[in-house]
Amino acid sequence: MNKQEYINAVEKLNLWAYHYYVLDDPIMTDEGYDKLYHEVQKYEESHPDEILPNSPTQRVGDVVSEGFTKEKHLSRMWSLEDIFDADGLKKWLEKTYRLDKNVTFYCEPKYDGASLNLIYENGELIKGITRGDGTVGELITQNVKTIRSIPLTIEHKELIEIRGEVVIFKDEFEKINKERLKRGEPPFANPRNAAAGSLRQLDPKVTAARNLVFLPYGVGINSLEHKLLSDKMSYIYELGFRKPPLRAVTKGYDEIEAIYEKMKEERESYPMMLDGMVVKVNEIAAQIDMDYTVKVPRWAVAYKFPAVEKITTLKDIILQVGRTGVVTPVAVVEPTEIDGAVVERATLHNFDEIERMDIRIGDKVIILRSGDVIPKIVKVLVDERDGSEVKVERPKNCPVCGSELLQEEVLIKCQNLNCEARVVNSIIYFASKPCLNIDGLGNKIVEQLYNAGLVRSVLDLFSLSMEKLLELEGFKEKKAKNLLDAIESAKRSELWRFINALGIEHIGEVASKMIAEAFGLEYLNATKEELVAIDGIGDEMAESYLEFMRVNRETVEKLHNIIEPIAPEKKEEAKENPFKGKTIVLTGTMSEPRPKIKEMLESLGAKVSGSVSKKTDYLIYGEDAGSKYDKAVSLGVATLTENEMNGMLT
Ligand code: IVH
Repeated sequence: MNKQEYINAVEKLNLWAYHYYVLDDPIMTDEGYDKLYHEVQKYEESHPDEILPNSPTQRVGDVVSEGFTKEKHLSRMWSLEDIFDADGLKKWLEKTYRLDKNVTFYCEPKYDGASLNLIYENGELIKGITRGDGTVGELITQNVKTIRSIPLTIEHKELIEIRGEVVIFKDEFEKINKERLKRGEPPFANPRNAAAGSLRQLDPKVTAARNLVFLPYGVGINSLEHKLLSDKMSYIYELGFRKPPLRAVTKGYDEIEAIYEKMKEERESYPMMLDGMVVKVNEIAAQIDMDYTVKVPRWAVAYKFPAVEKITTLKDIILQVGRTGVVTPVAVVEPTEIDGAVVERATLHNFDEIERMDIRIGDKVIILRSGDVIPKIVKVLVDERDGSEVKVERPKNCPVCGSELLQEEVLIKCQNLNCEARVVNSIIYFASKPCLNIDGLGNKIVEQLYNAGLVRSVLDLFSLSMEKLLELEGFKEKKAKNLLDAIESAKRSELWRFINALGIEHIGEVASKMIAEAFGLEYLNATKEELVAIDGIGDEMAESYLEFMRVNRETVEKLHNIIEPIAPEKKEEAKENPFKGKTIVLTGTMSEPRPKIKEMLESLGAKVSGSVSKKTDYLIYGEDAGSKYDKAVSLGVATLTENEMNGMLT
């Protein structure tokens, strides 16, 4: 690697990380990333004085042995007044309209995490400070740098404080707790505690391993001249920060209520926990006029979501067996309404957890439904026991097929490949969205087909007939036809879906796409050498893939002949067009998501890059274009509106 290649590699890594951590739209596998990362690391070892400040290696520093030092924020970090219902909102709006009757409102999620202040100077992240008492916090820069959704450098060169919430995504939270349980440590009670605890680790490596996420919600000291908060925030996102899953500018009560209801409903599907919606006056001048009380801004309010914890009774613990044979205990509780949904089940993770919490059948427990799809038991009310509670034993045999269970670390596994639960769940997986996407093949139907003896493997799906289906309870002609049509439409699916549907360990969606891309219909003849030559596929993945194909070759071939998957088209050289071979940067809000426009340009043979430099041929901009536009103009780079771009293509 020479110096220029090193600089390019850092830019590439940052682009991949931006796609992964900020846009949620990965364009490289973990292994591909790691490979280039190690090359960068090697270069830096032999050229320590050439290390770039935004190199991803600069994210993990040394242990802070003395503990954290105190640090003053450049401007105060405020808290928010809470309201809990429509009445509260009405009163707050009346008060606000009395101060200024012409304002509009910016609505965004209230994230449940720990607040953080970032200070950037000359475009470089120089400090990360916890909120503390709002005036003075703790200096945790080393830990903050490990958070991948926080850019180490930004294109805004003036001094700015960027404020936001550090959160742990729900799936990551589950993962961390599983690992803690495995090591015999108590799990975190909620993602908020996990985020706050992770930020204050003395060893940044521990923080790094927690996969924290930063979500910006405002600025402190700044020289931005936007008149609207919504524009200011667009500019911040444009600098490389994550956008909220939902935000809106609203006119008044009805619109605020509507967006609140929408957010409350949708939040189950968001990756992070929310505990409400924040409503902020959108006009910056009006914000300045309205000012602050001693504690909170008069121009903002937190509209909280209803409580999500309830006390209930544990009635039973049942066992579920998944596709891979793992047996998971599930709590059955006295049905309880939490935030509009009746909760009857809760996850228990595993038997170590049941023993650690000493959960007994009959116990009074607190369950939490925190936007997580599956509620969980967070506390056992030991003092409420009357002696009738019953301990649960670890199972020795599979609850479904009866075969002996194997304990693998904290997991208990059914080893029987023909176990009904494993077969049924593999079929459900085969039909799921990121696989063959067969509508109508959910749990109930697959179980019914299995029990009737019609389907004992995925192959059997393709010999179902109208006649056989009509014999099943609840199947009339229409339903049977819909199902047969859906199964039929799985034929000639894209090859990557077919590969993904096989459920090969370590081979997920991204890897399946890469394999389909690299080998096309020759995917069965891939060798280890060829596999690991793909950027993003390493030893473990290659071996898992080859072993699966060795053992299951016959079944895969049979399935292949039925489904006849379609290989991706070989990328042809793009026809002549004004963008072929050009380097392009996109900025601002466009009529379609930027990744889509990027894809379109790439198919024309253009290279789409993340930052403007002298080598950029065109900057194509949408609404709210920010610093990239200014930079392009100052470097004399040609700029085009989205319309002008389209014009050049017709
Ligand atoms: S604005 C001047 N917006 O909630 C306004 N805060 O209860 C100050 N929080 O300390 C805060 N999401 O840590 C704001 N979208 C959001 C937020 C948010 C979460 C946290 C923040 C703050 C606390 C106040």
